[in-house]
Amino acid sequence: MKRVLSGIQPTGHLHLGNYLGALINWAPLQEQADEALYCIVDLHAITVWQDPQELSHNIREVTAAIIASGVDVNKSILFAQSHVPAHSQMAWIMNCIARMGWLNRMTQFKDKAGKNKEKVSVGLFTYPCLMAADILTNKATHIPVGEDQKQHLELARDISQKFNHDFNVDFFPDVEPLIQKTAARIMSLRDGQKKMSKSDPSDYSRINISDEADVIAQKIRKAKTDPEPIPDCETGLDNRPEVKNLISIYAALAQQTPQKVCESFAGQNFSCFKQELIEILDSHLSPVRTEMKKLCQDPHTIDKILYEGAKKAHKVSAPIVSDILEIMGFIPKK
Ligand code: AQP
Repeated sequence: MKRVLSGIQPTGHLHLGNYLGALINWAPLQEQADEALYCIVDLHAITVWQDPQELSHNIREVTAAIIASGVDVNKSILFAQSHVPAHSQMAWIMNCIARMGWLNRMTQFKDKAGKNKEKVSVGLFTYPCLMAADILTNKATHIPVGEDQKQHLELARDISQKFNHDFNVDFFPDVEPLIQKTAARIMSLRDGQKKMSKSDPSDYSRINISDEADVIAQKIRKAKTDPEPIPDCETGLDNRPEVKNLISIYAALAQQTPQKVCESFAGQNFSCFKQELIEILDSHLSPVRTEMKKLCQDPHTIDKILYEGAKKAHKVSAPIVSDILEIMGFIPKK
């Protein structure tokens, strides 16, 4: 495996979806990759309005959460996207390569813009071009993400292939998504049809990585289920989205298949299962939460980590950016 890259938006508290869908993979990948770059995508965050003080706070908190989840800054390059200007510079180039029709098909834009299409920022529309820039500026090859980002990765691939074709080069390597099997898409605890998300107005819809044990317990006890008992096989989860979601969360944490989890709890009602889910959640999240809180008490150290990370990230991207500009015919800067 060559170069791994992934990012998380500092748009609020990280939740179980971010953790199981992406973050949990980051530490093991830093051991397997030739190089791993992890990025707090703060420029992506401002595609919707962010309170300046909260944004700074969230950037530091997300940095702490990433480190607390096992990313080692001596093995990986951890940086803030806004600290490496090549990302925004390349986003412009990606904007000029991507086609309107490609972006018009992006379902995340449709979901996030909803009926407000005319009033949302242009940045929200071109968000996938900035994501393509994150990847291609670093010639990243393997991208660990949740399933919701699959379409954006396909767009990054389309952009890289069009660049190679338009300039008759074999410059960008193939981009491969790394998507977890069991926890590719964690759903809201209140509505199994909706993705668990930082921006959901109900805090009961998600488990935050920072939630204390009693809050986790309360949220899981209140999580929506249905009156039927737990089925004895995975197909029995069809048309039961909330139950399927809870079983998937347990399966991902216990490193079992959903089928195995159904077999273990077959015929039982939810109180016993939920208690076990609470316990396994807390055993995973409590060390992360404790470490994250400790790191957050020292913002200067976090800023220094990001500063050092940006220097390393710049070293990776600078020669790639020079090559891209040269291929396109720009005059090299002396
Ligand atoms: N519910 C989810 N299940 C599995 N994976 C998820 N991811 C996000 N939600 C889920 C993955 O987490 C990584 C970081 O996501 P992000 O914060 O950059 O953006 P997002 O996908 O837009 O996450 P949110 O929580 O929904 O944020 P808001 O509400 O601010 O838009 C990505 O790899 C993503 O796939």
